[in-house]
Amino acid sequence: MRIAVAGGTGVVGRHAVEAARAAGHDVVVLSRAKGADVATGVGLVDALQGADAVIDVTNTTTLSRVKAVVFFETATRNLLDAEARAGVGHHVALSIVGIDGIDSSYYAGKLAQERAVAAGSVPFTIARAAQFHEFAGQLLARMSGPLAVMPKLLMRPVAAREVGEHLVRVASGAAVGRARDLVGPRDEVLLDVARRQLAFDGERRRVLGVRLPGAYGKGLASGSLRGGPDALQGVATFDEWLGSEDHVREE
Ligand SMILES: NC(=O)c1ccc[n+]([C@@H]2O[C@H](COP(=O)([O-])OP(=O)(O)OC[C@H]3O[C@@H](n4cnc5c(N)ncnc54)[C@H](OP(=O)(O)O)[C@@H]3O)[C@@H](O)[C@H]2O)c1
Repeated sequence: MRIAVAGGTGVVGRHAVEAARAAGHDVVVLSRAKGADVATGVGLVDALQGADAVIDVTNTTTLSRVKAVVFFETATRNLLDAEARAGVGHHVALSIVGIDGIDSSYYAGKLAQERAVAAGSVPFTIARAAQFHEFAGQLLARMSGPLAVMPKLLMRPVAAREVGEHLVRVASGAAVGRARDLVGPRDEVLLDVARRQLAFDGERRRVLGVRLPGAYGKGLASGSLRGGPDALQGVATFDEWLGSEDHVREE
């Protein structure tokens, strides 16, 4: 199969690309650095020629509800338009486990993405995953200085490598609308994993936990992001991931 990975240079995207190549698929990577922009549509139709499936793992890091909704709706619309013109038969969107009751901030954008995918004309599968083991590091990298602040977040994190492999399995099957959720093997608390990561890396930064206000903060602290009993479960624990070559330390 020819599989296009939109966002294939990102944290989960590069694992999806690696997994697709390892499974013998022909892979196309879409990202702005490679001349394809999901926000403007530039370069998409050309890049998707001959593709059988598209995995969308593009991202924006905003916490603004308006910006998140605009990004994910626009990106989805542009991708689906280009897929329809290029004859792509399966759109796979990566979303986040347990966000249904949290129509706020960044998650409002993800819910808008899911609605746009479902309303489109391309057969689709929405695959939700829990926070990645890489998530604490992504947040830490966005904060400079000796003090970092983490929202109170109850999660069940999973290795981005396992999410990438899951997305390739989903993309190489039939479009089913909604895939089973994928979560990690253990319950964790974001503040705690951030501290363990800094200790493992020998970084002397302090991390404080804060409870964010509003529906977003309530949702993060509620435990709903850990998913339910029917979810598929990843194998690597956070501490196993920390000691693996997939844990890239910030220089
Ligand atoms: N991080 C988590 O814990 C987590 C958990 C569950 C689900 N997810 C979902 O997984 C997806 C990917 O997250 P991530 O953390 O892997 O993202 P990431 O590391 O920030 O990577 C984002 C990717 O999107 C590309 N991109 C951004 N804007 C683009 C644009 N306008 N046009 C084309 N490509 C664009 C980037 O490449 P360029 O900069 O070169 O364009 C990059 O390849 C997101 O949708 C997120 O909601 C994340």
